[in-house]
Amino acid sequence: YLGMLVWPMTAFGWVINIIQRGRASYRRLMEVLEEENNITTNDPVEVGSFEGHVVMKNLTFTYPTGSRPALENIDFEVKPGSKIAIVGTTGSGKSTMAKLIARLYPVEEGMLFIDGVDINNLRPEAIRDNVAYVPQETFLFSETVGNNIRFGNMEISDEEVERYAKVASIHEDIEGFSKGYKTIVGERGVTLSGGQKQRISIARALIKEAPLVILDDCLSAVDTETEAEILKSLKESEINRSIIVISHRLKAVVDSDEIYVLHDGRIVEKGAHADLVEAGGLYQRMYERQMLEEKLEEE
Ligand SMILES: Nc1ncnc2c1ncn2[C@@H]1O[C@H](COP(=O)(O)OP(=O)(O)OP(=O)(O)O)[C@@H](O)[C@H]1O
Ligand SMILES: [Mg+2]
Repeated sequence: YLGMLVWPMTAFGWVINIIQRGRASYRRLMEVLEEENNITTNDPVEVGSFEGHVVMKNLTFTYPTGSRPALENIDFEVKPGSKIAIVGTTGSGKSTMAKLIARLYPVEEGMLFIDGVDINNLRPEAIRDNVAYVPQETFLFSETVGNNIRFGNMEISDEEVERYAKVASIHEDIEGFSKGYKTIVGERGVTLSGGQKQRISIARALIKEAPLVILDDCLSAVDTETEAEILKSLKESEINRSIIVISHRLKAVVDSDEIYVLHDGRIVEKGAHADLVEAGGLYQRMYERQMLEEKLEEE
């Protein structure tokens, strides 16, 4: 009898193991599936393609989990087709501004408008279609490089993928991988450098051809020359885009139409590069320091 019991007992142990593992995974899955959407659109206004006009009026925002406002009394404007920069100290609220425009968090009514429509009346889908947002933390799937750029839209042709990879200055790197655009990213494939990941996510954002592009410090791991090249090809493309660039490197933003300087959730300065340098405030100090650092590096 003992002999007959061995196999069933082993199988039993096995099954218990599988059930436990399944339960742990299920719990994690349900956490995602049960997450409630706190972004609601009451009376959605149907808009076609955006012009890329963003306005913040005396915007104050506190994170749902935060104790103090991450942004306070922000007045901000991006005119259609212009290039606007947001710079400032760490933790000053730059990424928060980007996230609000991408409608990742709910804002009060009457504070944030896109093309004159309150963001609360724009369906999230309309925003996803019209805003190319490259977040500060890049995220790539364990998929082929090509599909990471396509991001689920299989109708995009290989030529198109290549064209945008070129705009994001990543084409040559990809050609260098063993299987080119078919190389798998991540644990099972190629390990990418920070800069390569950033450029792939830029290509992914640009392929949407959106009229409003937000780059959240997504060129930090790219050298200055490549950065300048990417920004230039963005500006020169045929569609009239509004571009919001968030950067720690002031050199990348000197040619912006307007630069907003943030500190501790507030806008402390704004204007064109030359004016800000002349004003002798926070921007000027940051700029001087970076120029000095660059000089020291050269020596
Ligand atoms: N999800 C969140 N929940 C609560 N507080 C947050 C959250 N994200 C950011 N904060 C807080 O909001 C403030 C602004 O953060 P934000 O990420 O916008 O700064 P940043 O200017 O982008 O900084 P960095 O230059 O380091 O990227 C910080 O004080 C931060 O602690
Ligand atoms: Mg940030």
